[in-house]
Amino acid sequence: MRRFAVTLLLSDWLKTACSEVDALDARLLAQHVLGISRAELICRPETGIDPTRQEILDRLLARRAQGEPLAYLVGEARFRARTFKITPDVLVPRPETEELVGHAINKLSESLVPVANVLDLGCGSGVIAISIALECPQAKVTGVDSSITALAVARANAATLAAPVEFFESDWFSALAGRRFHLIVANPPYIAADDHNLAGDGLLFEPRLALTDEGDGLSCLRAIIHAAPCHLESGGYFLCEHGHEQGEAVRLLLADAGFIKVESWLDLSGNERFSGGKVAQCAELEEASENFRQEALASWQARPCLPKTLP
Ligand SMILES: C[S@@+](CC[C@H](N)C(=O)[O-])C[C@H]1O[C@@H](n2cnc3c(N)ncnc32)[C@H](O)[C@@H]1O
Repeated sequence: MRRFAVTLLLSDWLKTACSEVDALDARLLAQHVLGISRAELICRPETGIDPTRQEILDRLLARRAQGEPLAYLVGEARFRARTFKITPDVLVPRPETEELVGHAINKLSESLVPVANVLDLGCGSGVIAISIALECPQAKVTGVDSSITALAVARANAATLAAPVEFFESDWFSALAGRRFHLIVANPPYIAADDHNLAGDGLLFEPRLALTDEGDGLSCLRAIIHAAPCHLESGGYFLCEHGHEQGEAVRLLLADAGFIKVESWLDLSGNERFSGGKVAQCAELEEASENFRQEALASWQARPCLPKTLP
């Protein structure tokens, strides 16, 4: 008796897959393995899946159901309408970080310098550095990371997207002695070592170095903010992403490091997620010290039974 291999229909595979993982993830896995567009997937549910591809699909589906991020399974992720190569050597880019880039671009648009030197500290896959380079023609962007495997992914992304970014290995500012920037952007590891979320959905698969400082969650931010003024031009700006409960602590760190106009922004979920501050220019320093002098004078004059002029 002749036997025929049974070809599974796409619609049947999707039905089973959607009972195990999110429907969007199931659809994206199918598009990736079958090499079809979203329109083809919707219009041709009767497409047959040959046994080899079905095996690949089933294996990826099982990994997704175990919590492995979709980006690692398909090898890419979208960020600000571009496709970036993503491997387990880098953090999967988050939607909040797209907003961080938006704030960085707003700050650059306020700057009057014809060429703005921009630094992305802890560049990972390069999503921040590359997006800024492609969206701000006046930006000359440098990205650094301590992970050489992450840097390889960042360089590959810059080459594919034709983004003029220089990337090099550095433990935060260690390889940047004497260099100053108009804008420093950082999305450092900010999850505390004892945060139970580190063992949660998906994070177990991401590089630990990208997620946690192995301390209280603020140690990388502390080190970066402390050193940043020495690497900023006069009037330069520091901008970072942080945990949703770290806003107040980060503003204090910025103020302690001498930043002025310290501010924070909410992300689209309503969490305090980004903070930044400016290095004072000479005129602003003079204004700040004049304000301080006036305040000191006013409080002196307010004291009873004292001469009305400073000694
Ligand atoms: C939260 S990830 C951000 C990655 C990428 N910028 C993004 O937003 O998707 C933090 C990055 O900081 C890097 N990193 C951790 N410690 C570092 C250090 N001491 N010096 C430089 N980079 C570091 C990690 O390798 C990782 O790529």
